[in-house]
Amino acid sequence: MAQATNGTEPPPTEEELSAARLRLAVEGPVARVTISRPDRRNAMTGRTWTTLARIGRTLPDDVRVVVIDGDGDIFSAGIDLGMFSPEGVDGERSMVAGLADGTSGEAEVEDYIAGLQEGFLWLRRPDLVTVAAVRGHAIGAGFQLALSCDIRILADDAQLCMKEPALGLVPDLTGTKPLVDIVGVNRAVEICLTARRVGAEEARDLGLAELVVAADELPGAVDDAVAALLATNREAATATKALLQQAAGNTLGQQAEAERRAQTARLTALARSTARGEG
Ligand code: ACO
Repeated sequence: MAQATNGTEPPPTEEELSAARLRLAVEGPVARVTISRPDRRNAMTGRTWTTLARIGRTLPDDVRVVVIDGDGDIFSAGIDLGMFSPEGVDGERSMVAGLADGTSGEAEVEDYIAGLQEGFLWLRRPDLVTVAAVRGHAIGAGFQLALSCDIRILADDAQLCMKEPALGLVPDLTGTKPLVDIVGVNRAVEICLTARRVGAEEARDLGLAELVVAADELPGAVDDAVAALLATNREAATATKALLQQAAGNTLGQQAEAERRAQTARLTALARSTARGEG
């Protein structure tokens, strides 16, 4: 899983962010990443995701909460469909480069996709809480980006759609696991293989949205959630997210052991801080 670097890699410049169709605003413990390409319904390219990965690697250590949203009244129309044409988008590597004539090998393509997936994987880092604020459509890669976040706050006009199978593709941007974890295999099969749109109310009922609010209330609801998330102890929040992330893969006994280990570390840290007069 992607981790923050030790400050050796520079964060993306404004020019690089703009070429990736992203905006980034970091204020103290909160980073806001906005997908910004209104004339193409915030469609994204490979560069969007490699730059997202770089944002993750170079975030200041102070950042605890990352909010991802889309410019205007849409989260994202997913991948720029031009990425499937041989010429790609704005000179960027096409998703199908070298596949028709066999000049790209399978391993090369898988490496390329692995680089794109890094843009989504870091959002699970236990030291961060990630929030997707979704207005309008979140299609394909847009839906998978929202699924990569810990918390999804949806406007009542939100529509989630796993369009990939309708285009002859599979969802490959790390969205299938959270989807199945949340809704179960059967509902995930139904949602993906029909490529239908899941509205906000249904998303809430399925557990795909933690909160649904009126569209004009979305910014306020996100601010409230961010404030609540920042009110807890950071180290405890990090340890708790790590515990929760391993719960599904653990037996009850393994999870109880993990809880004991994590709590002993917390109690030790708290006791030492009290002894130093910091409590
Ligand atoms: N890639 C490239 N251009 C796009 C995309 C996209 N994914 N989505 C929208 N656009 C462009 C349109 O071509 C159009 O361009 P134009 O003004 O030059 O004609 C412009 O954005 C506006 O799009 P409209 O379709 O007119 O907007 P509308 O609000 O009616 O519909 C919607 C929005 C529902 C998002 C629709 O555009 C759509 O279905 N887009 C395609 C979604 C898609 O298939 N994404 C890929 C999923 S698979 C994956 O992400 C891996």
